[in-house]
Amino acid sequence: MPTSPTALILGGTGSLWVSALHLARAGWSVIVTGREPSRMPGAAAEFGIRFVAAERDEEQATEALVGDGVDLLVDGQGYAPGQARALAALSRRCGGTAYLSAKAVYVDACGRHLNSPGGAHFDAPVTEAGPTMAWQAQEVRSAEGYGAGKAESERLLAEHGERVSVLRPSKIHGPWVRQVRSAPVLDLVAPRGGATGGSRGRDPVSVAGPDVVESTTSAEVLARAVLACARAPRARVLNVADADPRPAGELAREVWRAAGCSPVPEVVPADPREAPDAARLPWRVAMVLDTSALSALGVSLPTFAETAWMEVEWVLRQRRSQAS
Ligand SMILES: NC(=O)c1ccc[n+]([C@@H]2O[C@H](COP(=O)([O-])OP(=O)(O)OC[C@H]3O[C@@H](n4cnc5c(N)ncnc54)[C@H](OP(=O)(O)O)[C@@H]3O)[C@@H](O)[C@H]2O)c1
Repeated sequence: MPTSPTALILGGTGSLWVSALHLARAGWSVIVTGREPSRMPGAAAEFGIRFVAAERDEEQATEALVGDGVDLLVDGQGYAPGQARALAALSRRCGGTAYLSAKAVYVDACGRHLNSPGGAHFDAPVTEAGPTMAWQAQEVRSAEGYGAGKAESERLLAEHGERVSVLRPSKIHGPWVRQVRSAPVLDLVAPRGGATGGSRGRDPVSVAGPDVVESTTSAEVLARAVLACARAPRARVLNVADADPRPAGELAREVWRAAGCSPVPEVVPADPREAPDAARLPWRVAMVLDTSALSALGVSLPTFAETAWMEVEWVLRQRRSQAS
């Protein structure tokens, strides 16, 4: 009898949970790791997804889980070059490996990165061929070191790994993510209670920077990318983002629409002189990822509007259960 292909997702109860579901639905036998069993989503048993508590920094624990190899190894918690070196060795035992990097690896034409003072400036959608940060042994859990650590990890995986797909998402949204960006956006129209189209829903909302266009990455498009890489493992680098980069103010309106706000409030730009403390939306980095390579792999890219409801419904459900 044929056995299911096996997938191991390191740090799989957050942004990668939708990936775990996609793999399980496609017939893979999936194990996800994390530190805290209580954070395992409830639907796990239904899909036969198993949880193993394992600290990502303990390389021996990871190595033991990989054993003689799995068909797909996904690393969602790799930040440091040392971790990438170990992952590269493990990748040689696995059918395929996917490494979650980030758009923070990119530098602009002047060598500035997203966390440089004043930020970076990209005049056109950024392709995977764009230059990435240099490694100067920065602290990887710092603003300076995050992108540099990922960029150096990518180089090590390309040099020493086998069949490693490097995925570069923008800001991730979806159920179970740990950085829930729709929550403060919901609070702008209906603090803490969920958006129900109450009287505040009809007032325009004044925010700083509503015209900034930053690519978004749904957990859904990330899952489709992971599945595509699982099915055709090889060394590659892919930007991963939703189909339609849109101004931040429009994204906020999609969040309110998904929450059932009716009418959906207009967004107006705050005057920085009159309202220096105006609310800021989560999408503040003018940066669009070119996703042609992902599309060329056969991945269909959902729009932000098609996927925003997944996080919003999850947030509102949590709020309702906390309130009851
Ligand atoms: N979120 C974004 O917008 C974004 C954007 C670009 C790139 N990324 C990349 O995506 C990856 C996921 O980051 P995220 O912020 O989105 O988090 P996340 O996936 O929503 O949550 C983190 C996951 O990893 C587990 N985890 C965290 N620390 C761990 C540790 N030391 N050992 C074992 N498991 C651990 C968590 O479970 P426990 O808490 O139970 O341990 C959870 O399953 C990272 O590599 C990040 O650089 C994220």
